[in-house]
Amino acid sequence: MSSFQQVTFTPAEFARLARIDRNIIPLLEDSGVLSTARQRVGNVDRKMIPLEAAQNYFRSIRQLVESGQIGRRGDQSEAAPTSETPSATPTMGDGAEAAGTPMAVESLRREMTPADALVAAATAYDFGTPKNKIQMFYNVKGGTGKSTLTAQFVMRASMMGLRVLAVDLDGQGHLTVNLDVLEGHELPTVYDVLINDLPIEQAIISVAPGLDLLPANLGLCNIEIPLNQKPRREYRLSEALEKVAPHYDLIIADTNPAASILNSSMLVAAQAVNVVCATNPLSFHGMSLVMATIEGMKREFRRQLDVKIIPNMYDAREVISQEVLGELQGQFGDFCTKAVVNRSADLNEATKRRSTVWEVSSKGQAAMDIDALTEELIYT
Ligand SMILES: Nc1ncnc2c1ncn2[C@@H]1O[C@H](COP(=O)(O)OP(=O)(O)OP(=O)(O)O)[C@@H](O)[C@H]1O
Ligand SMILES: [Mg+2]
Repeated sequence: MSSFQQVTFTPAEFARLARIDRNIIPLLEDSGVLSTARQRVGNVDRKMIPLEAAQNYFRSIRQLVESGQIGRRGDQSEAAPTSETPSATPTMGDGAEAAGTPMAVESLRREMTPADALVAAATAYDFGTPKNKIQMFYNVKGGTGKSTLTAQFVMRASMMGLRVLAVDLDGQGHLTVNLDVLEGHELPTVYDVLINDLPIEQAIISVAPGLDLLPANLGLCNIEIPLNQKPRREYRLSEALEKVAPHYDLIIADTNPAASILNSSMLVAAQAVNVVCATNPLSFHGMSLVMATIEGMKREFRRQLDVKIIPNMYDAREVISQEVLGELQGQFGDFCTKAVVNRSADLNEATKRRSTVWEVSSKGQAAMDIDALTEELIYT
């Protein structure tokens, strides 16, 4: 069991993460964009890719794409073959893991140069800039999965090499715990920033390479009255976040299950609000109120806000789950994400391990759901 910062990927896992043919990994090493480390797993010495090496890989490729040195996704004419772009060149997808023999690697090495491998890497992934830098997970109803999805989202985005600030705005501190910060009760929180004028940089801690956190603890439950008395109360959080925004690609908040001033402050700061709705009747029932609250905030503060609804805890075997998803999509179709997060024991297990669901099972349904959700929330 290891926390997120100790996560390492096997070559097969890394290939899945980067959506490349695992046999081009040696070529990517030759190109200098990827470094691997030998690690003892049981009795064997295995080649592994540590979290930081994976992040550096994505950053290097992103830089090469942005500087125009290699083709972007969609430039298929230039693209070298990948497992997603079949061609005459023999490539072995993830399923051919067992067939990834030294001979196969050798034949690939003969057919592809490191430069080809870079193009394959660049075209395998969307390396665009995130559409909305500041986002929040929200629902006034409790227990819909906000903290779970926020934690998984920020870890997954950070695996893609994005620099992420996670912001815990709930006195329960569940995001803080989910990110394996157990001494949260001793740390300054957004309370100190908004009420005691602590510079926000002094309240931010690092939880893993590329992933920072503004933690929360029970003390945050007392913020509403003092915050209410502050001038420009709803703008204070927004102004604090703006100060650190240049250091991050994404700033993602988990909110408390209430119509609180703190949540309103985040609605003022955010460019996108992701409403997490469990596919059960009570959660669906509360959606009209949630959407009305968001609309009210948009009017009052004259804000542009992208609104998305994430159906969570879906169970295809349950008729009620199917019915609620149908009603949700029927009534709020334009807002619903294409990604639906299924109910999965893997997510509970990931919460228990305080790590990413990829660590539990990188091929499981939950990992696929989180992958699809993360990409949709970042790029659309
Ligand atoms: N897709 C899922 N599959 C299985 N369990 C889930 C899923 N999503 C969330 N859970 C579980 O549901 C419970 C509530 O989730 P979570 O704490 O994330 O909700 P929340 O909306 O943040 O709650 P609160 O409103 O109290 O902050 C947790 O035990 C979590 O592990
Ligand atoms: Mg929560």
